Amino acid sequence: MAEEHSERYGVSDDEADIERVRLAMLSEARDPVTFALLDRVGVADGMHALEVGAGTGSVSAWLAERVGSRGRVMSTDIDLRFHAEMPSNVIVRQHDVTSEKLPSEHFDLVHARAVIQHLPEREDVLARLLEALKPGGAMVVEDGAMLEFAEQSLPEPYRSVHRLIAGASHEEWRDPNAGVRVLGWMRDLGMEGLEVIGDVWTMRPGEPAGEWWFLALERAVPRLVEFGVVSEADGSTLLAQVREPGFAMLSPTSIATVGRKPADG
Ligand SMILES: C[S@@+](CC[C@H](N)C(=O)[O-])C[C@H]1O[C@@H](n2cnc3c(N)ncnc32)[C@H](O)[C@@H]1O
Repeated sequence: MAEEHSERYGVSDDEADIERVRLAMLSEARDPVTFALLDRVGVADGMHALEVGAGTGSVSAWLAERVGSRGRVMSTDIDLRFHAEMPSNVIVRQHDVTSEKLPSEHFDLVHARAVIQHLPEREDVLARLLEALKPGGAMVVEDGAMLEFAEQSLPEPYRSVHRLIAGASHEEWRDPNAGVRVLGWMRDLGMEGLEVIGDVWTMRPGEPAGEWWFLALERAVPRLVEFGVVSEADGSTLLAQVREPGFAMLSPTSIATVGRKPADG
């Protein structure tokens, strides 16, 4: 029987202001690492690139500069409310990567950061992205792994709630450890030149590298209180704990996986 997925990545109008700031923080904290990674993979003048789940579009704008006026970037997201204006060589599309068509064998590079982990159809999505790549083209997927993140030492009550959130099962709509699995999925799809690069960083309140998570927590806690998973008192204590001056915690591991479509098809 087909699996039902009632919950998905989604941002209500009430949550839009927090999501806008959160996505900007994610871009500010992670873009330098992503740009170095993409430079290492190779982004050249004239290339066609696809940015999936682009968020603010900051990676698309960077790619646009690299591919130049002879190149093209397709910047897609299911929700374009937070996407910035783009230069003329970027095509911005509202697009659901789980179900809507992409051009076949069209792109030299496909990149997705912090997207696959939110999609229940993640293995199918990788197959669709592979189909959209030209033979020899590169796929770069950055996703999280929360195994160590879940285990770290934290003050109660934040610790228990953190373990609940970070330790969610991969059978749910969000896979907190998708980053661990992408290499195997790419390998099983017959991709070549596989490579993984992982990194962790320090998350502090008031800094983009921490606030992308603390703001998500601010969004999640009222729901956990509503569903009776967390008491109102614990909810406000833990939100205060992560904002205490001097508070620091380990980030999830960001795992970037790179693979290429075989040149002969
Ligand atoms: C955590 S954000 C990451 C944004 C951006 N990639 C970044 O790293 O800054 C996840 C993004 O995936 C998008 N997304 C979620 N489901 C999607 C789908 N089915 N198709 C395309 N984009 C999707 C969301 O709208 C959101 O912008």
